[in-house]
Order: sequence, then structure tokens, then C-alpha cells
Amino acid sequence: MKLDVTPLSDALGAQIVGADLARWQDDEQYEAVHRALLEFGVVVLRDQIITPAQQIAFSRRFGALELHSIVPCRMPGYPEILLVSNRRDSSGAYTGLPDAGREWHSDSNFHAKPSLGSLLYALEIPHEGGDTLFANMTAACAALDPALKARAAGRNARYVYGSRSAENTDSALKFTMTKSQWSEIPQAVHPLLRTHPETGRKSIYLSLTTIERVEGLSAAQGDDLVAALSEHFTQPAFVYRHRWRLHDVVFWDNRCINHKAMPFDERHARHMHRTTIAGDRPY
Ligand code: SIN
Repeated sequence: MKLDVTPLSDALGAQIVGADLARWQDDEQYEAVHRALLEFGVVVLRDQIITPAQQIAFSRRFGALELHSIVPCRMPGYPEILLVSNRRDSSGAYTGLPDAGREWHSDSNFHAKPSLGSLLYALEIPHEGGDTLFANMTAACAALDPALKARAAGRNARYVYGSRSAENTDSALKFTMTKSQWSEIPQAVHPLLRTHPETGRKSIYLSLTTIERVEGLSAAQGDDLVAALSEHFTQPAFVYRHRWRLHDVVFWDNRCINHKAMPFDERHARHMHRTTIAGDRPY
């Protein structure tokens, strides 16, 4: 099948029309999506009508799937799907993460082998708000001022889930998790500049949701470096804003793209299914 691949912005992203992820066995389609992911960092697949099992099967073509650390937000019967949702059950409790990722981040960076990529499928979207911003961390790295690049080169950051929760309003902490579930959430140390294992390109690698500190620097020096890098990669030239359409599947490459969810009017539903593909240890 011929897929129509069109760039979405100067910064990053391509839209693919004509794909059908329900036909996950189709090698040509898989190759086209894979190529577009490596070239554009974010792939938007329009008009997908897929079941949880089909989303899982297509995602698995790219690698093993992660089970999200916030166990109560895994979809019942389909633990590979993280519910990103502000729907509530009959007791009024959230059924998923209603405000996941409100700060710039790359998924599961607190794992020793963080995610390769994530697929987010929109099943209900608010009339306005709730967009997702994506930043091209490869282009941002290439445009770094040499002095700032030298400050980041060879440095590592430690990531701890929950370390920044008060600042980024991550509602995960409001969920009831057992002590043993909390204790199973890993922590990790990763380079601030990483090399993409498939393209060989360098990117800034920095998650503001979970960063605890930059190793080998005082807290103030580390915060300063993180602020300078963040100010740089969030410039409009590196950012694409995705305005969701119903039944979009957005697939992003966590190895070279950061993302951030925008707020919306909580009286409206925003309900999405996310699969998260496991990746390699950053270097
Ligand atoms: C996420 O960080 O995976 C959620 C992004 C979003 O809800 O737009």
C-alpha cells in the first residue's frame, strides 16, 4: 500500500495518511513508519480504528513493551497499555493518569534502559487545550553554543521518579500504590548528551519531570546547567505543537524527542491509550 508521508513542521514530525495499524503484519507499512520515525522523530497516523490488542501488536513490532511503573494506571486486561485519562470510576477515582507529563521529558528515563518510543492513541479529546508539544533534541544539540555543549559533554544526570512531583503536578503520586510497588520503581543515571543507536546522531537527553541532580556538580550548578539546556531546546525553532484529532496515533522517538502535555479544561474528557516500547542503555 502507498503511504502518503508529509512533514508537519520545520522542527520535526510527519503525518502519514493511508496506514492501518490494525494490519500490523504488513511489512511495507512497518518499514515506512520506521523510516519516517528515524527521519522525522514524530509520526502522526490519522484515522486509526484499533483495539488495545492491535495497538499492542503493532507496537511490539518495534520491540518489547514496558509495563508502566504506576500499576493502577495499567489498563485492566491489557497491562501493556497505560491509560492517560481523566475519566473517573463510580467512586470518583481517576482510572488513568489525568495529567501525565506536564513538564518536558522523555518516557521512562528513570529506567537503566529507557524507552525507544511511545505510541499514544486518542479516543476522546477536549474541545480545546490538551495539545502535546514535541521538541527536536537532535537539532537542538547541533545548534548548541559550543561553551554550553562543553559544560554538558561527559556529564550524567540521575533520574528518580517522584523527585520533582511537587513541581510538575504529576498526579501519579495521588494514586494508591503499595510500598512494594513503589520500591520496584527503578532509578537511573544517563548522559546529558546521547547518541541515537540507529541514526548515530547526538541529542540532548534531559527529563525535567524526574531529574534529581547532575552528577559531579553542586545543586546550584546543576540547576543552572539544566535551566540553560532547557531554555535552549524549548525555542520555537525546535518545537512542534500537536493539536489532536480524534483517532490520531502519535508515535514519537524517545531517544531524540522530548514532549510535554498541555493543560485543558478538566470538565471535558481526554482519554488515550499509550504503549511504550523498551529501548537500549543510552551512551
Ligand atoms: C505522556 O507524557 O506520555 C502523555 C502525553 C500527553 O498526554 O499528551
